[in-house]
Amino acid sequence: MKHLIDIKDLSVEEIDKMIEVAKDIIANKEKYSHKCDGKLLATLFFEPSTRTRLSFEAAMLRLGGEVLGFSEASSSSVSKGETVADTIRTVGCYADIIAMRHPKEGAPLVASEKSTVPIINAGDGGHNHPTQTLTDLLTIKCEKGRLNDLTIGLCGDLKFGRTVHSLISAMSRYKNIKFVLISPKELVIPEYIKKEVLDKNNIEYIETNDIEEHMSELDILYMTRVQKERFFNEEDYIRLKDYYILNKEKLEKAKKDLCVMHPLPRVNEISTDVDDDPRACYFKQAQYGMFIRMSLIMKMLGVE
Ligand code: NCD
Repeated sequence: MKHLIDIKDLSVEEIDKMIEVAKDIIANKEKYSHKCDGKLLATLFFEPSTRTRLSFEAAMLRLGGEVLGFSEASSSSVSKGETVADTIRTVGCYADIIAMRHPKEGAPLVASEKSTVPIINAGDGGHNHPTQTLTDLLTIKCEKGRLNDLTIGLCGDLKFGRTVHSLISAMSRYKNIKFVLISPKELVIPEYIKKEVLDKNNIEYIETNDIEEHMSELDILYMTRVQKERFFNEEDYIRLKDYYILNKEKLEKAKKDLCVMHPLPRVNEISTDVDDDPRACYFKQAQYGMFIRMSLIMKMLGVE
């Protein structure tokens, strides 16, 4: 049995295969509509979610399987003081696979140590979000046609943004990748990612707080929301929340085939006037998320 806690739990070959299957699902949806008949996915969300939970559930339903779960901790026995480990052992008696999101870093890892069924980390605090990264990789592959030879701008909350952490970790395994890390100084990428991922793999990166400085070099611009729920004080959040607002004007110097991504939800960081720009990929990205999760569920359940 295999869990997906960190994107590195999957090899590059496994990810590439999963992307190929997702592309086949997009082209031949009917072929997959009974692949998971009789299987049950539990979504245990101890933190709010729209896309991740609903795309997991839509993915399982579109494979012919069924879903159950909860979308807030207050509606589960956690509110009575039950531990994550006990919750997981119980849900494993009912479901074949579990996707869980938790505000505490490491909670899905702890859960996986006790689980009798595969666990998927659907986001743990400000740490990791491997299935968003699979979504991002499928988006990049479909929109750019490649996962090598890319200059990727990551903008916003690089400190608490778990999607950014997992994406850097995944992209660092492809060839000729360069990162432009754009954030206010209070929200720079954590030191452990610089040391253990970027430096260790000799990845070229630049840190800046200016979104326009390297705009013309970017193939991907990945915008992120300032993670309000991870701040210790509201004043800091209010000061930093609108630090970057991408609009049409700022995109003037960008490449014609730039791909603007965002894991969503957006608050203010992309102005709605960008939505009609052909370079805006974030709603397509949300849709790719369902297809890659279909591919992931099949793989983790051992469905051919
Ligand atoms: C992200 C998350 O939950 O980390 N959302 C998502 O899963 N699509 C990004 C965010 O909440 O800002």
